[in-house]
Amino acid sequence: MTPDKKCVKVDSNTCIGCTLCTQICPNVFEMQNDGKSKAVNACNDTSEKLEQAIEACPVDAISWDDKAA
Ligand code: F3S
Repeated sequence: MTPDKKCVKVDSNTCIGCTLCTQICPNVFEMQNDGKSKAVNACNDTSEKLEQAIEACPVDAISWDDKAA
């Protein structure tokens, strides 16, 4: 366990379903039936990978979620 474990969340109102986050962090994000991504295992990757997903999202739908830790 790393002490600086970080978690993310997806704003489903903003997500356009581009699926990039699920390709970068398949252990974290999962596409839902509504075509939006959800952080089903919100803390399940390194902070570097999570940050990559945050930066890759074209509509900035992913953000850090301190409460999910
Ligand atoms: Fe949606 Fe952004 Fe992922 S648009 S599918 S949250 S990369």
